[in-house]
Amino acid sequence: MFRVGQIELDRPVLLAPMEAITERPFRRQCRRHGAGIVYTEFISAEALIRRVVNAQEKALLAPDEHPVGIQIYGNRHEALVEATELSERMGPDLIDINFGCPVKKVACKGIGAGSGLLREPDLVVSLTEAVIGATPLPVTVKTRLGWDHQSIVIVDLARRLEDIGVAALTLHARTRCQMFKGNADWDWIAQVKQAVSIPVIGNGDVTTPDDVVRMFAHTGCDAVMVGRGAIGNPWIFSRARALLDGGVDPGPPSFEQRIAGYLEILDESIVEKGEPRAVKEMRKHLASSLRGMPGIAWLRGRLMEETDRAGVQRAVESYLEKLHAHRRPPMAPDPDPVSEMVSS
Ligand SMILES: Cc1cc2nc3c(=O)[nH]c(=O)nc-3n(C[C@H](O)[C@H](O)[C@H](O)COP(=O)(O)O)c2cc1C
Repeated sequence: MFRVGQIELDRPVLLAPMEAITERPFRRQCRRHGAGIVYTEFISAEALIRRVVNAQEKALLAPDEHPVGIQIYGNRHEALVEATELSERMGPDLIDINFGCPVKKVACKGIGAGSGLLREPDLVVSLTEAVIGATPLPVTVKTRLGWDHQSIVIVDLARRLEDIGVAALTLHARTRCQMFKGNADWDWIAQVKQAVSIPVIGNGDVTTPDDVVRMFAHTGCDAVMVGRGAIGNPWIFSRARALLDGGVDPGPPSFEQRIAGYLEILDESIVEKGEPRAVKEMRKHLASSLRGMPGIAWLRGRLMEETDRAGVQRAVESYLEKLHAHRRPPMAPDPDPVSEMVSS
């Protein structure tokens, strides 16, 4: 059983925090499909304490998305402490600290934050201790193996984090230097699970419902976290759940369901952000939401041009008409490879 604070779940599958992806509408959709916990994208502690509106908006939570964690990052104790207090007021179920982000602007600026701090395990521990001291909420940590393969610190670090009271640890089983390349090495997740008794959340390269089951079996972890495999694909949670509960994978959604899922997020985003911004920003979900559908380059082209909801609807309807009329749509095959998937 996975236990963090008030949360108690049997082998849950969690939605990974993803910048510009795990916004409220998508988080709520994943919860409806059975994600055990969802997380905000990482939020800069410095921006939160300076009351930057964009950062404050990222920390707003919807009543129907619990359990939800707010993820923060930073490298100054005072900033993290104040950001924790501000985050707590938003009513999350937990605070997660990001020590895993590999992007240069985060990891390499000054002393670094995100995975940059993996070169300074003492600082990771003392920053985490400060956050724990600042809130009665459970504090969890999400990190990587270490800076590079020559400096893997995770087993020792996990023990130290357990000692200071971290409620759970998420391990993306890559080093910072790997960024998103190579394979996540799940053996490390198994090693960390052996080394500590707090819940360990396995993460990295889980893209199918079968992968979820394999990750649990291979590592003995307490929860599995899915990132890229959930973008445009909230069905991964319900499908994995069916397998974990001993049932049969209901299979992938139909094209119609995928399009409906896309429109569902669009409509919720319109309510939050207004139509022009929501329609424009939804384009980032296009590639992964519609990947592999026949003749999809045509629809994607149309959706890239549409600027309002009615235009999106017209584009979708004519695509579906063509799809139904011809079974095989008359549009050109999709020239884009899977590699256009969002990644950072
Ligand atoms: C577009 C994108 C944005 C991400 N943003 C964050 C983030 O804000 N915080 C974080 O801890 N990890 C972030 N990650 C890393 C994911 O949470 C996850 O650890 C990583 O993608 C590996 O899991 P996966 O193989 O299931 O995608 C991001 C990943 C992607 C692809």
